Amino acid sequence: MDSTTVMFSALFLVWCTFVNGSPASLEVGKLTKATNVSWSSYNFKTILSWGPKPVNYTYTVEFSRVGKDKLRNPHCIRSTETECDLTNELDVKGVYSADVLSESLHGTSDYVEPPFTRSKKFCPYNDTLIGSPEFKLKVNENKKTVLIIQDPITALHKDGRSLNIRDIFKKNLKYKIAYNKAGSTGQKMLIVDESKVEFNNLDEDQSYCFSVAAYIPSRKGDKRVGEWSLPKCSPQEHKTLFEEYGLAVIGGAALIILAFVIAVIVLIVVCCKRVRRRTPTAKETIV
Ligand SMILES: *[C@@H]1O[C@H](CO)[C@@H](O)[C@H](O)[C@H]1NC(C)=O
Ligand SMILES: *[C@@H]1O[C@H](CO)[C@@H](O)[C@H](O)[C@H]1NC(C)=O
Ligand SMILES: *[C@@H]1O[C@H](CO)[C@@H](O)[C@H](O)[C@H]1NC(C)=O
Repeated sequence: MDSTTVMFSALFLVWCTFVNGSPASLEVGKLTKATNVSWSSYNFKTILSWGPKPVNYTYTVEFSRVGKDKLRNPHCIRSTETECDLTNELDVKGVYSADVLSESLHGTSDYVEPPFTRSKKFCPYNDTLIGSPEFKLKVNENKKTVLIIQDPITALHKDGRSLNIRDIFKKNLKYKIAYNKAGSTGQKMLIVDESKVEFNNLDEDQSYCFSVAAYIPSRKGDKRVGEWSLPKCSPQEHKTLFEEYGLAVIGGAALIILAFVIAVIVLIVVCCKRVRRRTPTAKETIV
C-alpha cells in the first residue's frame, strides 16, 4: 500500500463522517428532550405522557421490564403525540421503565444516540389507581342491612372477557367500608374480604351511610386504598302500616272512609234531583 492509497482512504473516511454524521448532529441541536415523563394508570388503563408538543421532530417510546429487552408499541414510534397507551403491552406484575426518545424527521443516524428522558419505575399491580366501586344496599329477610359491592372492571381482557379487580388481585383484594349513623360524625371502619357484607351490629330504625373503597394491603403506603365511592344511605326503617296499627284499626279506618264516600255520593244524588225538579218551574216563570 502506498501513501496515496492511505491518504485517499483517510479522506474517504472523513467524507463519510461528514456526509452521514454531520447533518444528524446538526439536527440533534433542534431536538428537544421530553419533559415531565409520567405514568398515569386507572383500573389498569395505563398511559405514559410527557411534553412538550414536538415541532419538526417526533417521539418514540421504548419500554422494558427491569433487566429485559427494550420493546416498542407500534403506535408510539415516530409519533407526534405526547402520550402512549401501554395498557395492553404490560404484564400486570412486571416492573417497567420507559424512555421517550426525540428523533428527527429524517431518521436517526446510527452514530448518534437520540436524546431521551427516562420515566420512573412503574408496576401495574402496585401502582394503578383502583376506581371507586359501585355498591347496593339491601335489607335481608332477617332485617339486616346487606351491602353488595360490584368489583370494578379493569381495562384488561382475557379470552374476550373484561377482567375485574378480583380476577387480578384474588386473595389480595379487600374492601374498606366507612359508615356512620346518618347525621352523626362518629365514623366506623370495616375491612372485608368478600363483595357481600351483612351488618349485624347496626341499630334498627336508624339510617346509616356507607362508603366503599378497594383495599390492597400488599401495596405500599397510600397506594393501598383506592378511590372512595360517594356515600349511600340506608332508608330510615319504616314499619308497614299493618305492623304499626294492626288489622282492626286499618279495617275500621277503611270502613269509616267508605261510609264517608257513600254519604257524599248520596248527598250529590239528592241535590241533583232537587235541582232538576226545580228547573222546569224556573223556565215557566221566565216564559
Ligand atoms: C411540566 O410540569 C410542570 C409542573 O408540573 C409544568 O409547569 C410544566 O408546564 C410541564 N411541562 C410540560 C412541557 O408539560
Ligand atoms: C420547522 O420546519 C419548517 C420547515 O422546514 C421551518 O420553517 C420552521 O421554522 C421549523 N420550526 C422550528 C420550530 O424549528
Ligand atoms: C408490590 O409492592 C410490594 C411492597 O412494596 C412488593 O413486596 C411487591 O413485590 C410488589 N409487587 C410487584 C409485582 O412488584
